[in-house]
Amino acid sequence: MLEKFERHPLTFGPTPIEKLDRLSQHLGGKVDIYAKREDCNSGLAFGGNKLRKLEYIIPDAIASNADTLVSIGGVQSNHTRMVAAVAAKIGMKCLLVQESWVPHEDAVYDRVGNILLSRIMGAEVRLVDQGFDIGIRRSWEEALEEVKARGGRPYAIPAGASVHKYGGLGYVQFAQEVRAQEKQLGFAFDYIIVCTVTGSTQAGMIVGFAKDGRQRNVIGIDASATPVQTSAQVLDIATNTAKLVDLGTKLTMDDVVLLKAYAYPCYGIPSEETKEAIRLCAKLEGMITDPVYEGKSMQGMIDLVQKGFFPEGSNVLYVHLGGVPAINGYGYAFRNG
Ligand SMILES: Cc1ncc(COP(=O)(O)O)c(C=O)c1O
Repeated sequence: MLEKFERHPLTFGPTPIEKLDRLSQHLGGKVDIYAKREDCNSGLAFGGNKLRKLEYIIPDAIASNADTLVSIGGVQSNHTRMVAAVAAKIGMKCLLVQESWVPHEDAVYDRVGNILLSRIMGAEVRLVDQGFDIGIRRSWEEALEEVKARGGRPYAIPAGASVHKYGGLGYVQFAQEVRAQEKQLGFAFDYIIVCTVTGSTQAGMIVGFAKDGRQRNVIGIDASATPVQTSAQVLDIATNTAKLVDLGTKLTMDDVVLLKAYAYPCYGIPSEETKEAIRLCAKLEGMITDPVYEGKSMQGMIDLVQKGFFPEGSNVLYVHLGGVPAINGYGYAFRNG
């Protein structure tokens, strides 16, 4: 499916799949939970899902003769951290627009975690006072114009590397990788749990798992709190990606399973239940999830197991997409553990 696309390696290779025995037992032992550790996928600035996407985007950036990667996200965006790391690795400059997507007040929110790392890696970081939106933003277009006006050659990477023409390919490749690992394990996963915000992670998985008819077993847990816009964006990206890889199956909104019950109170703010899920997984497995993304998908998965959503005997793959550095911006929320 992907042979015709160039890939610039940024990751260590296939990510490990680990059984979460103690969490499975704690939740009743009727479902076996595994984690695919995308959070450990690279030595580049703590890694995460964006690197898998960027592996298929960077060849285009290099071919375009750009000298500056320009991208956008919230103040604690994992994606912009990853773009800063990749720019450093390939020897390009980097301009990052960091909008005020999260109504969160922590004394050091704009000094620690992702934004701290991006600054250390030499990115030019621009704080902009705009609220959350996964669409194309003016502030980002202005940044692109500004690089040109300075005589630079910008390469545009949208929020989450999602609405880029190649944004969905990385997670098509992920599905191929899982299929190969399933052969070694001797069983196939019945459900794949993924946190969704800008959409290309789930979109790529939908296309990749559609190959063996499992696209509706990809359970997206919305963390955007704008699920109508997010599911439309997932379908758009999946449709474009399916064309690119000649999938030959028409995808519809029924193929986009996006559960909206766990994103409250809003993007970037963890509910009490999200914080409890983060603590539970940390205490039982030593696996850290963040308050913006993975904590919400962890909460969703735990709730679904408890509600009996997965039939007894199911093998569930929780995809840990990274994002832990942001937890440093939530020191007060976890001041007592
Ligand atoms: C840690 C983490 N998990 C999940 C997501 C959601 O992925 P996507 O934006 O492709 O929907 C992101 C990025 O937005 C992320 O950084």
